[in-house]
Amino acid sequence: MDIQQDKTKILMVCLGNICRSPTAEVVFREKARAEGFDKYLYIDSAGTGSWHIGHPPDERATQTAIQRGYDMSALRGRQVTREDIEKYDYIFAMDRQNLHDLLALSNPEHREKISLFLHHGNTEQDEVPDPYYSGADGFELVLDLIEDASGKLLRTLSGKHQWA
Ligand code: 4NP
Repeated sequence: MDIQQDKTKILMVCLGNICRSPTAEVVFREKARAEGFDKYLYIDSAGTGSWHIGHPPDERATQTAIQRGYDMSALRGRQVTREDIEKYDYIFAMDRQNLHDLLALSNPEHREKISLFLHHGNTEQDEVPDPYYSGADGFELVLDLIEDASGKLLRTLSGKHQWA
């Protein structure tokens, strides 16, 4: 899909792009839609790894999201590129390893666009833990953390960009 130049472009990034970042993509999109801010935003997600390119989201992530009203079924995994880092306005890493890998991929002038997603939330925790080898609780926690940070990040961005 072409990136729309007039929108604020947001990229959510994790390792596999099948659990955390697609969850952040759909939750942030839905919260933006509910507030009427979706017209100002282009939201996408990607993984630092290549294992799940073209794959649908993890079934456990999909089911946990559905229970809270988020539909991830149309998403497919892809790997983050240097071009992404140039094009997106904000790039949010789910954990410190993702942050490290994104910074390593980035030219110095783009590094300020990259941050930990949970730094924009209210929790003490600053990483969304990788749920891939966890039980159902891990996926519930991913959603709790992402819902919390998404609401707060949306308020911050809407103030900064003066979205009506
Ligand atoms: P994600 O979770 O980074 O939240 O999408 C993972 C998905 C797959 C793998 C690791 C983490 N993996 O090793 O295949």
